[in-house]
Amino acid sequence: MSEKRTKKRTVATFGKYFTAPSLKDARKRRKDEDSEIIRDSFEVPEDMVNAGIGRKYYIRTYGCQMNEHDTEVMAGIFELLGYEKTELTAEADIILLNTCAVRDTAENKVFGELGHLKYLKASRPDLLLGVCGCMSQEEEVVDTILRKHQHVDMIFGTHNIHRLPQLIKEAYMNKEMVVEVWSQEGDIIENLPKTRLGDLKAWVNITYGCDKFCTYCIIPYTRGKERSRLPEDILAEVEELAQKGYQEITLLGQNVNSYGNDLNGGVYGFANLLEAVQKIAIPRVRFTTSHPWEFTDEMIKIISKGGNMMPHVHLPVQSGSSAILRKMGRLYTREEYLTLYNKIRKNIPNVSITTDIIVGFPNETAEQFEETASLVEQCAFDGAYTFIYSQRDGTPAAKLNDNVPIQEKKQRLQTLNALVNEAALKRNGHFLGEVVEVLVHGESKKNAAVLSGYTPQNKLVNFVGGKDLIGKRLEVKVIQVKNWTLDGEVHNG
Ligand code: 5AD
Ligand code: SF4
Repeated sequence: MSEKRTKKRTVATFGKYFTAPSLKDARKRRKDEDSEIIRDSFEVPEDMVNAGIGRKYYIRTYGCQMNEHDTEVMAGIFELLGYEKTELTAEADIILLNTCAVRDTAENKVFGELGHLKYLKASRPDLLLGVCGCMSQEEEVVDTILRKHQHVDMIFGTHNIHRLPQLIKEAYMNKEMVVEVWSQEGDIIENLPKTRLGDLKAWVNITYGCDKFCTYCIIPYTRGKERSRLPEDILAEVEELAQKGYQEITLLGQNVNSYGNDLNGGVYGFANLLEAVQKIAIPRVRFTTSHPWEFTDEMIKIISKGGNMMPHVHLPVQSGSSAILRKMGRLYTREEYLTLYNKIRKNIPNVSITTDIIVGFPNETAEQFEETASLVEQCAFDGAYTFIYSQRDGTPAAKLNDNVPIQEKKQRLQTLNALVNEAALKRNGHFLGEVVEVLVHGESKKNAAVLSGYTPQNKLVNFVGGKDLIGKRLEVKVIQVKNWTLDGEVHNG
């Protein structure tokens, strides 16, 4: 870590080993400085080399793909130290909960799990238990863990992952809980190891953080300022994955559209990156997530050329009411969203479009909810993740009084889900009798005799087939459609 950053970082200190989070500091953005790309800040202390030999690690991941990606980095670090992966908490020497803060339901799950792990920790005092990820960035969460979950050995933040070897060392040496959460980070660390969770599909991070500050959302605070990796680093990673035989990559960012805004005055943007990735011999390329703001015509043009660009766009709308969108700070109106939506549908052949929707934003009226319902009917999305608004302390929306009772919000969610399912079923109906290309990723979760894979449009297809088909891209005929999945059979000629 550069000297400059170390001095500038604002941290609250409440003990010898501790740096605590501050959402207030996390909100600050240093516009005057570009991100630094750091290639040497990850290091293993000499006495930690081989520290994990004969020991096992277990990581439980909550939340989004960004967390899955971070888990791969932490797994890489553990394995570099000699630790072996286990799927069983009972045989782990170190357990990490990689947490999500986006809604209170996600946070409650983690607190529930911490409660369960108390018993395991009591029976095995030498077990190390750590909490990391987005929840660690919230001071209230850290306070709660310090007060109520003293069996936790370490808490570290999303900007402290590269310090895992040092943190493990401190946790082994100290009886007190080790807390290290930096609230601001502006750098990108390129020399981190990574153990990918699969050998077929891979995440490729292109940006970190978010500067959109939608009023309901905690992510700009927990993940820090928006910063882009250099194109050459991203392209080298994709090339390497292609050479290793990976079939699919997903370019990851909180808002991939804004890729490059912070590099060289924004001359090389997401469309340029897509164009470059399109030339690499990797069969499938996806990207997520796209804010409807900054979704450019150039992007549409490149995706519509096909090749390895998969025809699927995840385009969160959040609400169908322009008044609510304004209160959410989403930067577009209902009409502007619809214009973009229709443009994407018209120009990208056979595209599927999915979305995220929040119901029950503070003071959302019945009429405003109806506008969301009518937008869903009008768009007929291929799928939607729907959520009840969850108040996140420290965000602007948390200061609003809310006159919508929770029962009403639940009712709205049900109404919305029925419309979402109806639309998805209708869209899936277009595939009935069609032959689709499926990238087979494994056995279905429910039945080992059934294989599962995704179509280019990201539709999950289940079909009967032998294990030898796993990892292949093959033609499957769709014989039945459901709300969220398709049933098929292997197509022979
Ligand atoms: N309450 C409910 N849903 C939220 N999301 C983000 N913040 C909140 C919140 N406070 C949803 C948005 C976003 C998705 C990842 O999570 O729909 O697109
Ligand atoms: Fe949150 Fe908005 Fe950023 Fe998405 S774009 S991560 S919803 S602040």
